Amino acid sequence: MAPTTQIPKNQWYVAAYSAEVGEDLLARTICGEPIVFYRASETGQVIALADRCVHRRYPLSKSSRVGDTIICGYHGFTYDSGGTCLAVPGQARVPRTARVKAYATHEQDSFVWIWIGDADPAPVSGIPRAPWFASSDYTTVRGREPLKARHSLLLDNLMDLSHETYLHGGYIGTPEVAQTPITTQADEEGGVIRVSRHMDDAECPPFYAKSTGLTGRITRWQDIEYFAPCLYQLHSRIAPAGVLPPADGRPDDQAFHVEVGYALTPETETSTHDFWLVARDFALDDQWVTDFLRENNREVVMQDVVALDLLEELIAADGDAYQELSISIDAGGLAARRLIKKLLEAS
Ligand code: FES
Ligand SMILES: [Fe+2]
Repeated sequence: MAPTTQIPKNQWYVAAYSAEVGEDLLARTICGEPIVFYRASETGQVIALADRCVHRRYPLSKSSRVGDTIICGYHGFTYDSGGTCLAVPGQARVPRTARVKAYATHEQDSFVWIWIGDADPAPVSGIPRAPWFASSDYTTVRGREPLKARHSLLLDNLMDLSHETYLHGGYIGTPEVAQTPITTQADEEGGVIRVSRHMDDAECPPFYAKSTGLTGRITRWQDIEYFAPCLYQLHSRIAPAGVLPPADGRPDDQAFHVEVGYALTPETETSTHDFWLVARDFALDDQWVTDFLRENNREVVMQDVVALDLLEELIAADGDAYQELSISIDAGGLAARRLIKKLLEAS
């Protein structure tokens, strides 16, 4: 029987940016599981516990933190950072089953990753890397938008960038994006899909013209890597038309490099945390460029959010009977869907 859930379990997902987790209790639902996050005072480690008291379900995120323990705001059950209940009111004996789930976490590249599933966590060495987001060689802007649409809709959107021409015209879209064919490569064993689109002579969209200062035609490369199920990266290379690509030891020092990242983390079956980042290797200290890229990229993200929220509403209204029609540009998205299906079957 087909799985009823669309969320692969026994996977690492991005739960937050590192900077979001501190002393305060942070509530966030990940893959349908309500979780409270905070940072341990001594070790600095990110603690993640089920956000429901075992007594009467009161959210621990609405309770008080004392040292590294949480005292439930309803009747005072007290939990340590491993989720074990240390004290209950009115009796000395603490029931053996009084514990909340503690989740494994791992911080890397400015993200807090969390292991979702009942199996033991897979080694953290397998979590995909995105070093530029925490590197001083890049300047990064980032945000997180709540998306009232399922993970698969955001994945479809990101795997096919031809929509830039239509949905993001005047921002990142130009005619060449939709016109240029893609190459798609699926590494099902490694859980990675790669989609490339190399435009040798293209218009420079405002997003890149204003941030780089380039005024003429450009070569524009888009190399996508999707590490299922959560991390998406778009390696973007922009150079004046005619500036040769890197090859045979030839440096790429006349090109501008932008690393666009997304972490696609299901919040529920029909909503998603849309984490987005833009890292650049030029104008590192230019505050105007930083502000421009943050604002402009957020507008682009919101154009997608509005479109995908609308599609989710239509799925709810129309039901599952809709017959899609796919074309060449969908090769990456279809490969990503096959990968997710595989993960669902395995989880
Ligand atoms: S609900 Fe938490 S102590 Fe009662
Ligand atoms: Fe988009």
